[in-house]
Amino acid sequence: MARIKIFDTTLRDGEQSPGASLDPKEKLQIARQLSNLNVDIIEAGFPITSEGDFKSVSNIAKEIRGVSIAALARAVEKDIECAAKALKHAKSPRIHVFLATSKIHRKFKLAKAKDEIIKIAVKGVKHARKYVDDVEFSPEDATRTEPDFLAEVVESVIDAGAKTVNIPDTVGYAVPEQYASLIKSLKENVKNISEAVISVHCHDDLGLAVANSLTAIKVGATQVECTINGIGERAGNASLEEIVMALKTRKDFFGHTTRIKTHELLATSKIVSGLTGLWVQRNKAIVGENAFAHESGVHQDGILKERTTYEIMRPEEVGLPKTKIVLGKLSGRHAFKKRIMELGYELSDEELEHTFNQFKILADKKKDIYDQDIEALIQDEKSEVPHIYELDSLSISCGPNTIPTAGVRLRVGKDKIVDDATIGDGPIDALFKTIDLITGTKGTLLDYNIRAITSGKDAMGEVIVEVDVEGKSYRGRAVSTDIIEASAKAYLNAINKIKRSKK
Ligand code: KIV
Ligand code: ZN
Repeated sequence: MARIKIFDTTLRDGEQSPGASLDPKEKLQIARQLSNLNVDIIEAGFPITSEGDFKSVSNIAKEIRGVSIAALARAVEKDIECAAKALKHAKSPRIHVFLATSKIHRKFKLAKAKDEIIKIAVKGVKHARKYVDDVEFSPEDATRTEPDFLAEVVESVIDAGAKTVNIPDTVGYAVPEQYASLIKSLKENVKNISEAVISVHCHDDLGLAVANSLTAIKVGATQVECTINGIGERAGNASLEEIVMALKTRKDFFGHTTRIKTHELLATSKIVSGLTGLWVQRNKAIVGENAFAHESGVHQDGILKERTTYEIMRPEEVGLPKTKIVLGKLSGRHAFKKRIMELGYELSDEELEHTFNQFKILADKKKDIYDQDIEALIQDEKSEVPHIYELDSLSISCGPNTIPTAGVRLRVGKDKIVDDATIGDGPIDALFKTIDLITGTKGTLLDYNIRAITSGKDAMGEVIVEVDVEGKSYRGRAVSTDIIEASAKAYLNAINKIKRSKK
């Protein structure tokens, strides 16, 4: 029996999801929750790629304790030095060096022969070891690398000082049996393999990332790289919550443990989805809205008689509260605070006071307040987006045989009010065009999504927009019982991020 190390790469590979860019404050917020979840390693970013990423890694390295903090670097000196600098204040820093090894990458991307690849990999690992003891090496596209050559690379980097060797299925090409036999053959044929931890890192292009990771664990991998909600490059990475709960629920089969506090899984999933704007599908295993919902009468009857008839995990194990207490207009501060704590959130006194006031305003518009409503208020409260422009008021006119028109008034800072009005192809187009006029924004709306957070006609609507400005995309999110207001606020949220990044 082994304790499997959970290497979370939500903030690095996860953030490579199209449109999911996070700023340093948002990344720190997620890192704090990953630390509550008790992952073993947080891959905080790829510092050479941008100032923002450098700052994120450095902030996380300064604050988070009890978890190793990793930074990614290509096998080149300037990347490694930059990663080392960003990790300077970490208690347990790890530099994660990678270099592609497959024939396709060697020929088309790197134009390097096998012996040169080995030299660069070894040099990279040795260079990283000058700064930290804990060095991980990843032969990128390992599953499409000739197995003999892969074994040679792995042996060389271990000799050079790598303490972890990660075997990435970079393009999600592997299938479980084949991936497991690759890991097994490395265990059998690399003579110094016992000196390093074998790690797995699978992408989900064929929907096999979790299955591949689990079969690799079954044959001896003891570190698994994964992301919350399975977000990541293209189809994503292996989902952390699915791997952890599979290991826990099927301990009889796998025989391993993790140190994850599984009751934090749902809260972590919600924080990541709220901050990235990447919604979780309803039927997603473990954290989807339907994951513990029983619709069929036969199932409901079975559950009432004996829970295990149709439930292999207890909802509380993943952090789903037992009862959905509904709050309303008459609920007091005490009940509100208690519910927030039960939902796994921590608010300062000031945040609590402000959120409670928002709750009262909402309760005037909406009869029953559900957990999702409260969570939406908390996400708003915790949002670190600056309030450069704030919505003061708006009016929309639209309908058959009318020209959609929006009038918007915004507050800038404490006292300044600016307003304008214009027409558009529809009410949202008119609204966004007016906001563009007032704020001087020249962007392109890439995406606009709206959904009801809870059920009922008075449900709060959540709007997420994605705006492209000069080739960079920004997301904005807002909730309200009025979907036009939510749209305006979400758009302003994105604009405030744009203004901040320009500053
Ligand atoms: O998928 C991949 O190969 C990676 C490496 C950088 C580990 O993300
Ligand atoms: Zn990856």
